[in-house]
Amino acid sequence: MSSDNKIERYIVTSALPYVNGIKHLGNFIGSLLPADVHARYLRLLGKDVVAVCGTDEHGTPAEIAALEEGLPVEEYCRKYYEIQKSIYERFGLSFDFFGRTSAPENHQITQDIFLKLWKNGLVFEKETEQLYCLNDQRFLPDRYVEGECPHCGYFPARGDQCEECSTLLNPPELVNPRCKICGKRNIEVRKSTHLFLDLPKMQERVASWIRQQDHWPLSTRSIAEGWLKEGLRPRAITRNLKWGIPVPLEKYKDLVFYVWFDAPIGYISITAQWAKEIKKNPEVWKEYWKNPTTRLIQFMGVDNVPFHTVTWPATLMGANDDYILAYMVKGFHWLMYEGGKFSTSQNRGIFMDKALELYPADYWRYYLLYIAPENQNTSFEWDGFQQIVNHHLNNALGNFAHRTITFINKECNGIVPSVNNPDDKEIQALKEIVRKHMKAYTELFDSYEFQKATQNLYQLWQEANKFFQQRQPWKHAKEGNKKHVEDTLSASAHLLRIIAILSTPFIPFTAEKIYALLGYENPKQVHEERWNDIFDFECLIKRKVVPNPKPLFKKISDKEKRKYQLMFNPDLREETSTAKEEIPREKKK
Ligand code: MF3
Ligand code: ZN
Repeated sequence: MSSDNKIERYIVTSALPYVNGIKHLGNFIGSLLPADVHARYLRLLGKDVVAVCGTDEHGTPAEIAALEEGLPVEEYCRKYYEIQKSIYERFGLSFDFFGRTSAPENHQITQDIFLKLWKNGLVFEKETEQLYCLNDQRFLPDRYVEGECPHCGYFPARGDQCEECSTLLNPPELVNPRCKICGKRNIEVRKSTHLFLDLPKMQERVASWIRQQDHWPLSTRSIAEGWLKEGLRPRAITRNLKWGIPVPLEKYKDLVFYVWFDAPIGYISITAQWAKEIKKNPEVWKEYWKNPTTRLIQFMGVDNVPFHTVTWPATLMGANDDYILAYMVKGFHWLMYEGGKFSTSQNRGIFMDKALELYPADYWRYYLLYIAPENQNTSFEWDGFQQIVNHHLNNALGNFAHRTITFINKECNGIVPSVNNPDDKEIQALKEIVRKHMKAYTELFDSYEFQKATQNLYQLWQEANKFFQQRQPWKHAKEGNKKHVEDTLSASAHLLRIIAILSTPFIPFTAEKIYALLGYENPKQVHEERWNDIFDFECLIKRKVVPNPKPLFKKISDKEKRKYQLMFNPDLREETSTAKEEIPREKKK
């Protein structure tokens, strides 16, 4: 089993999605899904795991979205917190707690960490220039303002970053700025005092910690080292906003923390929310976060890597309050949509709520893991989706499950038979194959290779079909070779159980369905199975399987695929509408 046998306690995190709006499949495979799959794997090994996620609710994106939807920001956040939470549940994301960064626990822990940094002399104040809207009589930080990018001329560049050339910006650098609230250019520059995290003071400590992380993926290390090489600069950690966590010092009480200061602290405070609400023990989160033997495993998009390898660790180190730092920071590249970018405004690509209306969660989970953008960008392709669902899920897994259950019904009255010839060479060989796949399974998970882990699982499904095919139970049944048939079906049923358990992290709903086929009264038991109990070719003997198995999957037809291809791609819609075809149109969000 895994080389990390000794480590028993894990915290697994997914980057906290911004509360505004509904996420698309790229966001899903970019951190949420890998975190879930990995947490499920660790639970399978019998580890003590707490997996946390939640909505990132502060900052200008949330405020602006609330403004656009005409809701007070608190109400807006509650609404989208609930919507996102429900979607993630329906996708089978098994976070132990899905919390919020606006929760009281996050206020409390953020202020506490800040005060420790303050006390340790790692925060200083500085007067800065900010944009101020004379109409709205308020400051315009970050995305409250847009204008021409001073570097590439792109319009509208946002106050915090130009989307076109990726340059990080300060609002006063924008050329010809415009207020996002009133749309006017009635803006002046005003002085405002802000608090800065003194990162230069932390440079050495951060650098030496990063040097020790030789188990990090190369890309994570090089992003972190790139930042260090440029020399860390002080970072403003406050904003002139009302929505956010107030600075707990009288002198700065009109400032709130910058969203990137409080959001990662959300991982800690969401664990505290879990401790209070689920464990009914408000202090128990410290046994995870202040326990040097806990491993913190973090999944995110590559753009988040600098915050998780440099600024946030510096914050925790600087607070000097026994918080553990990340053991693993795994970044994902971008998922494209049929070669282009996902876009909410143009309705290009598939959003998570829509996806569930089209196909069951496991179809998406499996295909996205199969093409996970681990080392480079990958692209969601309808052709690929159809192929993988039809061949891997339907023809390989679905077929094996169906044949096994159908034959047990036909040849053994629906009862899993016992084994007649324990020395059967082919069955021995099959067991060897299973052992080999289980070994690869842990190795691939331990090295965070999602695509390869998915392939390894698929190969086991193929081996299962190969075994069934080679044993020809239909032929032996006809020839009256009952013992041979029984041995085949007994081995197949047990192999199907093993496959269900190993598939759980990837396709948890299907795993339950397989347990139901195998006659388990409580199919959810599949989630309770542990590594040491997987390899068992006897536990099902005499069990009654389901009498009339329904297929696990449905194939995707060409017609259906074409329909959705058109529905979710504005470019194709335009092409074909000139050809005057009847095309179903999706409503814009
Ligand atoms: N909301 C951010 C994003 O989607 C991620 C925040 S991760 C956290 O890019 F660490 F800050 F929580
Ligand atoms: Zn630019």
